[in-house]
Amino acid sequence: MPLKTRDTNERTPQPGSQPVAHLLSIPPRSAVRRAPVETGRTLLVPLELTDGAELWEAVEGSRWHLERWLPWVPFNNAPEASARYAEACVSDWDTGRAVRFAIRDRQSRELLGVVGLDSCVHLHRSCELGYWLKREATGRGIMTEAARACVDFAFARMTMHRIRCAAATDNSASLRVIARLGFRFEGIARQAELVSARWLDHAIFARLSSDE
Ligand SMILES: CC(C)(COP(=O)(O)OP(=O)(O)OC[C@H]1O[C@@H](n2cnc3c(N)ncnc32)[C@H](O)[C@@H]1OP(=O)(O)O)[C@@H](O)C(=O)NCCC(=O)NCCS
Repeated sequence: MPLKTRDTNERTPQPGSQPVAHLLSIPPRSAVRRAPVETGRTLLVPLELTDGAELWEAVEGSRWHLERWLPWVPFNNAPEASARYAEACVSDWDTGRAVRFAIRDRQSRELLGVVGLDSCVHLHRSCELGYWLKREATGRGIMTEAARACVDFAFARMTMHRIRCAAATDNSASLRVIARLGFRFEGIARQAELVSARWLDHAIFARLSSDE
């Protein structure tokens, strides 16, 4: 019996085989800059090229407070490094890789820190929440307020499905922020980061758009 050859032009639709690229929606940076995310005490403004100098001052002024938990701090060792980071933020937003905000005091417009959604995966509509504050901006609930607004932005404006957040198991300030935001504990990633010559175990948390 002759073998039945398959017509190469034949297309049998397979369940679930529809292309599903770019499921995330990334609001244009210019639009969010014109109408920043507002919280009670802060504005979340997309990081811009012009933020390099302020970022440098913020990191330089809080170096000891930040370097215990954030592996990039020692590499942020000159104003040019902050300028390059600002450039990367612009490019990452515009190409849909990450969405990072300057947290600004609503009254004075001073830069207080950064909150952002890194590692955006369009296919799975997922990302990672990251944040830091200048030392003098801590202890007032600013990050809880800003990170909550960032999470709301992800779910409401980017059609995000899953947001992951990780903190070192002994970073109690960050763990308290994550708890206040209603993230659920998923497990421990052992020795996930080498920070200041110390391996940090990470507690991994996530929130889904369908979570209460
Ligand atoms: C993690 C970090 C952003 C948390 O800052 P924070 O000031 O503790 O967090 P918040 O801005 O949400 O403030 C919460 C604190 O302010 C107090 N507070 C005062 N007024 C408040 C208000 N209106 N609402 C909420 N909290 C308030 C809270 O009691 C809380 O203190 P507590 O946790 O000791 O009870 C900060 O410690 C930081 O930048 N650390 C270094 C970088 C870092 O670790 N990044 C995260 C890596 S995973």
